[in-house]
Amino acid sequence: MISRPLPQPHWPLWLALALPSLALLAAAGQADADLDELTALSGQAAAILLVAAIASTGAARWLARPQALIRHRRALGLAAFGTSVVHLALYAAAMGALAPMLAELDAPGIWTGWAALALLVPLALTSTDAAQRRMGRGWKRLQRLAWPAAALALAHGYLVHDGQRLALLLAFTLAIFQLYRFNLGRTAR
Ligand code: HEM
Repeated sequence: MISRPLPQPHWPLWLALALPSLALLAAAGQADADLDELTALSGQAAAILLVAAIASTGAARWLARPQALIRHRRALGLAAFGTSVVHLALYAAAMGALAPMLAELDAPGIWTGWAALALLVPLALTSTDAAQRRMGRGWKRLQRLAWPAAALALAHGYLVHDGQRLALLLAFTLAIFQLYRFNLGRTAR
């Protein structure tokens, strides 16, 4: 069955989801900004939003009105993408030039981040109601790119600097919600 587009979330939610990025960009504009720290914070925010977007499908099973959460899933996914772009911008600002960025492209902790972002691009580009209608069943299949994107993002977070604790926590959270979504959720109730 082809799912019908759900009503759009209201602007306060978009604003709330944009706030971490806006705050990080404002902090980056300060003369004494610690760009490495801001890069790390934006990466954490992006990963949390991405995991929240994927986990919301499983979490909705606990709710009496699952649609209330499901209709916000797309906003969470778009916020994850937008925050990832801000993360990349802060990383570029911290590096200061393209050459050092290209020089470390083959490091596992870095290419995994690029690959995660690359997978999020088609999802963001097809996030409109019109794209969902046009693509029919293919849209749902394409949305599954969010899973390898999350796996790459968490591997990236685990490999760079000191992101291990958050990456493990998010991987564990995601595993629980996915398990519930695909297995336990079917037999419960
Ligand atoms: C565009 C490609 C990307 C590049 C070049 C990149 C680069 C970096 C760098 C250099 C750091 C280390 C920051 C520091 O500690 O100083 C970092 C951390 C991190 N990034 Fe990315 N990243 C990219 C994409 C992503 C994406 C798409 C996500 C998630 C959706 C993400 C999530 C994280 C996380 C969770 C951390 C660990 C933060 C911490 O706790 O220390 N990154 N990234």
